[in-house]
Amino acid sequence: MARRPGPLAPAFARRMAPLAVLAGLVVGVALPWAWGRLALAERQSEAAVWARQVAEQVEAQAHLRPRLWAYDRARLSAALIPVASPPVSAHVHLQLPGRAGTIEAGPAVAGGAVTAWAAVRVEGRAAARVQVELPAGPLRARSRWVWSASAVAGLLLALTLFVLPLSTVRRGDARNLELWDALVDANAGLEARVAARTAELRALGGRLVSVQEEERARISRDLHDELGQTLTGLRLRLTAIEARLGDPVGAAAQVEQAMAAVDGAVEDVRRLAHNLRPPALDALGLATALRGHAERWAETAGLALEVDLAPVEPPADVAEVLFRVGQEALTNVARHADASRVRLVLDAADDGWRLVIEDDGRGLEQDASGGGLGLVGARERVEGLGGYLDVDSPAAGGVRLLAWVPQV
Ligand SMILES: Nc1ncnc2c1ncn2[C@@H]1O[C@H](COP(=O)(O)OP(=O)(O)OP(=O)(O)O)[C@@H](O)[C@H]1O
Ligand SMILES: [Mg+2]
Repeated sequence: MARRPGPLAPAFARRMAPLAVLAGLVVGVALPWAWGRLALAERQSEAAVWARQVAEQVEAQAHLRPRLWAYDRARLSAALIPVASPPVSAHVHLQLPGRAGTIEAGPAVAGGAVTAWAAVRVEGRAAARVQVELPAGPLRARSRWVWSASAVAGLLLALTLFVLPLSTVRRGDARNLELWDALVDANAGLEARVAARTAELRALGGRLVSVQEEERARISRDLHDELGQTLTGLRLRLTAIEARLGDPVGAAAQVEQAMAAVDGAVEDVRRLAHNLRPPALDALGLATALRGHAERWAETAGLALEVDLAPVEPPADVAEVLFRVGQEALTNVARHADASRVRLVLDAADDGWRLVIEDDGRGLEQDASGGGLGLVGARERVEGLGGYLDVDSPAAGGVRLLAWVPQV
C-alpha cells in the first residue's frame, strides 16, 4: 500500500504567509501614505490659489497707482483680509519692494503649515511676493485617523487571508487522513477475506484430489484383487486342463494360446492398477516414486534419463499432484517429442515445491492446443493447490514443463 499522505497545511501556510503580509502592507501602509500625499498636494494647491488671488488684488492696485501702491499699507492690508480671516484663516505675508517692508495678516499658524507663494507682477516684472500659510493641523488629524484605520484594516485583511483558508485546508487534511485510514482498514479486511477464500479454495482443491485418488485406489484394488485374481485362477484352471488332456497336440496348442492371452490380460490389469494408484508414492515418498516411474518409463521408451531429485517430502495432496504431472509430462515426451534425452528435476524453491521436465525433442507446435486433455488436467490440478504450470519451448530446443505448488 502507498505511503500515508502528508498534510497540505504547512506548505499552504508557507506560500500564503507572504501574500497575506503583502496584502496587509498594501492596505495598512501604502494606501494611507498615498492618501496623505494626495491630501497634502490638494492643500498645497489651495494655498497656491489663495496666494494667487492676493497677488492679483495687489496687481490691480499697482495698475491703478503705478508709483504709490507699495506705500498704501492700508489698502494693501485690505487686499490680504479675505484670505487671512475665516473661513480660510491663513497667515499671509506681502513682501514689498525696497524700503516698503512686509505686511502680514491673519492668525499665526501653530503645529505646521502648508505654504505657497505667488509673485506680484507689475509692468512685466516681479515687484512683490505673496506668501500664504494654511494651517496643516486638521490635515494631520485626519491623516492620523486614516493611518490607524488602514493599519487595523490591513492587519485584519492579512489575518483573514491567512487564517480562513488555512483552517479550510486543515479541515481538508483531517478529512483526507480519515479517508486514508478507512481505506487502509478496508484494504486489510479485503486482504484477510482474499487469504481466507484462497485457503478455502486450496482446501477444496486438496479435497478434490484426495477424493479422486481414493476413487482411483478403490478401482485399482478392485482391478487387482478381483479381476487379477479371477484371471490368475483362470490360468491355473487352464494349466490343469492342459495336464489332463494327455497328448492331443492341437488342443494343447489352443490352451497354450489361451494361457498366453490370459498372461497378457494379467499384465495389462497390473499395469492399469499401477497407473491408477502408484503404490510407491505412499510407501517411498515422491522423489523415489518419481525416480522409479521415470526409470521404468525411460527403459520402455528407450531414452536417456537424467534425474536430479531432492529428497523433499511435500504433503500427500501435493505429492499426488506432482507425481501425476510428472507422469503426464513423460508420457507426452514419449508420444510427441521425438526426443533422445529427458531431464527431471524436483526441488524446493520460492516457498514451494518445483518439478521440471525438459526434453531435447522437436518442441511445441505453433498450435499445441489440439484437443489434448493431459496438460489441461495437469494445470487444473496444480492451480487447484494455488500453484502454476508453465509449458514452453526454450530457445535451445525441446519442451520445458515447470510445475510449482506453494508450501502453505
Ligand atoms: N514434450 C513435448 N514435445 C512436443 N510436443 C508436446 C510435448 N508435450 C506436449 N506437446 C504438445 O502439446 C499438446 C497437448 O498435450 P496434452 O498432453 O495436453 O494432450 P495430448 O498428449 O495430445 O493428449 P492426452 O494427454 O489428452 O492424451 C500435444 O498434442 C503436443 O502437440
Ligand atoms: Mg498428453
